[in-house]
Amino acid sequence: MSNVLSVPGSNLLTLNDIPEAYRPQENHFNQYLIGGELKTWEGEMAEVYSSIHTENKNGEMGPTLLGSVPDMESEPALLALESANKAFDRGKGEWPTMRVRERLNCLERFADKMKAHREEVVKLLMWEIGKNLSDSQKEFDRTVDYIYDTLDAYKKLDQKSAKFEKEGGIHAHIRRSPLGVVLCLGPYNYPLNETFCLLIPAIVMGNTAVFKPAKHGVLLITPLLKAFQESFPAGVVNILFGRGRKIAQPIMKTGQVDVLALIGHSSSAVALQDEHPNKNRLRLVLGLEAKNPGVVLPDADLEHTVKECISGTLSFNGQRCTALKVLYVHESIIDEFNKKFSEAVDNLKYGLPWEEDVFLTPLPEPSKPQYIKDLIDDATSKGAKVINKKGGQMTENYIYPAVLYPVDDSMSLYHEEQFGPIIPIIPYKDINEPLDAMAASEYGQQVSLFGRDVTKIGPLIDIMANLVCRVNLNSACQRGPDVYPFTGRKNSAVSTLSVFDALRSFSIRTFVASKDNPYNNEILESLLNSNESNFVSSDYIL
Ligand code: G3H
Repeated sequence: MSNVLSVPGSNLLTLNDIPEAYRPQENHFNQYLIGGELKTWEGEMAEVYSSIHTENKNGEMGPTLLGSVPDMESEPALLALESANKAFDRGKGEWPTMRVRERLNCLERFADKMKAHREEVVKLLMWEIGKNLSDSQKEFDRTVDYIYDTLDAYKKLDQKSAKFEKEGGIHAHIRRSPLGVVLCLGPYNYPLNETFCLLIPAIVMGNTAVFKPAKHGVLLITPLLKAFQESFPAGVVNILFGRGRKIAQPIMKTGQVDVLALIGHSSSAVALQDEHPNKNRLRLVLGLEAKNPGVVLPDADLEHTVKECISGTLSFNGQRCTALKVLYVHESIIDEFNKKFSEAVDNLKYGLPWEEDVFLTPLPEPSKPQYIKDLIDDATSKGAKVINKKGGQMTENYIYPAVLYPVDDSMSLYHEEQFGPIIPIIPYKDINEPLDAMAASEYGQQVSLFGRDVTKIGPLIDIMANLVCRVNLNSACQRGPDVYPFTGRKNSAVSTLSVFDALRSFSIRTFVASKDNPYNNEILESLLNSNESNFVSSDYIL
């Protein structure tokens, strides 16, 4: 079978066929970061393969070996936790008691160092998870921007705290304080961006962290370990490699984690919470799965709607928590919509991530093509049809997006978050059908509403706003821009993320209170003038 689906000229034979700038170098990385030291791992290593097939040393085509990373055990994982605990030092650590200004300096130093690794990280994003070149570049740049935006947001937040308040005869100096030790786990679809959107706000607020990269998209973290080591005090960021079972579970079991920060599946989040013995100690910052619907009203502009639905359902092959995972289309326009949408899907360019204008790319999870095929088989055995010509064409690392119609609740595709290239279309007669389905769903992240008659759209927005957390009007669902709140109802999220909200999610309001009398006021004033406390300070960061 060929690596590339009927795309002339794209068949890959050897690494030499790949433009030099995108050719991978094997990277066997045997280090990890604990207590400010880059330690060498002497144990088992796990090989990292790309699902992109090239010719191997024996002249056979197969997944490309990209390198290896430590397959770490529970013992070093617990040492990493100990190191994070030591750096927090029950609130006494240098990092949690440091002036905000100094923490921001550390973060700025990190961002400057990180920028030097753009090329390597972008190349690894393409090879490890098959993200196309422009989206890989966007992921890197968006992450760096997120760090700089975080610096600004924290400055603003801190500026507001540089003062005393007085109510009911009590002076109060209110700030946001860290929560403690954070276990940070990110997803494979945004292995850099989404992980850092947890890790960066977590540490800048004064927490310390243990971080384990996702299973796919792991080598791309390795160039950044040194930057973490050089930018932050020892133990603030600890980075491990390996399986969640051997690393995350034993850490949670200790009961010493204060925040579980995870973007991934709710089943992993629940399993990890279950390990923690002190449920109320554990705070949660979770971005979980979703089944965002697109609802197309009879008067929607179909050209525009199809364009947004393509980007919503199939950007990065549908492997986004925010992807449109089901389309409800009014029966009066369904035939026209299906025709236009299927044609648009069949016109998408499939190829290797660095090829020009490529939209569809190989899937990183080896089992995904078969999983999608099983969803197709299940739906077609219950009455749905694949309505686009190329739908379901398969290779070892890909399956061409399949548009399934009509889908109903007897099919697995109706219920499961497919996270891949398959699009269920459900016809509706009465708008209450999609509304009821949204209300009954386990998920509640976002919706896309397509239409133009405000007398219809207005009341629908009012209802949908009570079922999800973002109503996208004639626009695909998405997380960004990162200043907007990213969250979800039900099984889709716990806590809110955005540049600003993440700073709140990883901290708690704490204040120093003092009754208004001459004795206390004199002490407060001399405290402020003395610089003895980093918390009680009217330091204004410009
Ligand atoms: O996987 C879920 C991501 O948060 C989606 O982000 O909408 O920017 O692709 P995005």
